[in-house]
Amino acid sequence: MNWEEVLNALGEGVLVLKGSEVTFVNRFLVENQLVREDWKGKHYYEAIKSLPFISIVGRALGKDSLSEEFQYLERFYRVVSKRIGEMLVCEVSDVSSVRKYEQSKREFVDNASHELKTPISVLRGIVETLLEEEEDQRKRHFLEKALRRVEQMQNLVEDLLTLTKLESGRERLNLSEFKLRELVEEVYDSLEQEFVKKEVSFENLVSEDFKMFADRQKLFLLLRNLMDNAVKYNKRGGKVWVRAKKEGNKQILEVEDTGIGIPPEHVPFIFERFYRVDKGRSREMGGTGLGLSIVKHIVFLHGGEIMVHSEPGEGSRFSIVIPMYN
Ligand SMILES: Nc1ncnc2c1ncn2[C@@H]1O[C@H](COP(=O)(O)OP(=O)(O)OP(=O)(O)O)[C@@H](O)[C@H]1O
Ligand SMILES: [Mg+2]
Repeated sequence: MNWEEVLNALGEGVLVLKGSEVTFVNRFLVENQLVREDWKGKHYYEAIKSLPFISIVGRALGKDSLSEEFQYLERFYRVVSKRIGEMLVCEVSDVSSVRKYEQSKREFVDNASHELKTPISVLRGIVETLLEEEEDQRKRHFLEKALRRVEQMQNLVEDLLTLTKLESGRERLNLSEFKLRELVEEVYDSLEQEFVKKEVSFENLVSEDFKMFADRQKLFLLLRNLMDNAVKYNKRGGKVWVRAKKEGNKQILEVEDTGIGIPPEHVPFIFERFYRVDKGRSREMGGTGLGLSIVKHIVFLHGGEIMVHSEPGEGSRFSIVIPMYN
């Protein structure tokens, strides 16, 4: 069998290197203009035409295996490399259709949310005005219900817009040093009503001189979502506290509660969009299941990690680790 013919017939790219010299390129890579036609005997940085592809191969040379994506001439490619003895084999597949589908889905959600924003805020204004003027108890009751629903829609639209922005990959970090204790106070102030309503007490255990290095605005959103959950999924008279510490170049934040906890079989899924443990109860509380997806994206954007420790009936602890970058 002629293996070269077989490899040339493939719908994906194959590139083989020995040291930094190219020893095989299949037709796919030449036809898609990723590699020059006269690649024979050349080093990979001369043979490959796309700069991002060159730098991936450069990184792959120092590793046993690697998987990375790049964009070239309007298309998206995934490179998977493997070291076999002296050879480095790179498989290159065209993942444009998946990426383009994801992009159009994001654009659709983004456009739909933008279109909904204005009518919802007009509606909210109308309901609030009617409520101010209404004295009839029965009518007030319905208007209050309507207002809660409108607020829920407004939150959902806000969350969707935040999430599509975070997922687009266009979002950049605006890093600065700030006092974490003050940020936690601000988040608590924005949620105070919820704490009072549920008679949940709050303790800010972050020391006065703890300096955090991160994107302050995004961290506000992150803490707001975690503290909102900590009070929302708590018992009457429960407790919530926030702590922070540094270990080496890691900044560790913890939000802990004495709430209802999360059954272990649900823990792997709670960071997925629209996932709620108890759909009925969560909806009643106004949740849509986007909060923790937003948290996850903010953590990843910082190059960090998130851990959950939870005991049903006892409480939950969310730990965020954010590297310091200096
Ligand atoms: N501290 C917690 N204690 C118990 N369960 C929690 C806690 N945090 C999250 N959960 C569970 O994880 C699910 C997902 O949380 P997430 O914040 O993403 O959504 P949500 O709170 O339902 O809605 P949203 O935050 O979008 O308003 C929740 O519905 C809840 O079941
Ligand atoms: Mg939430």
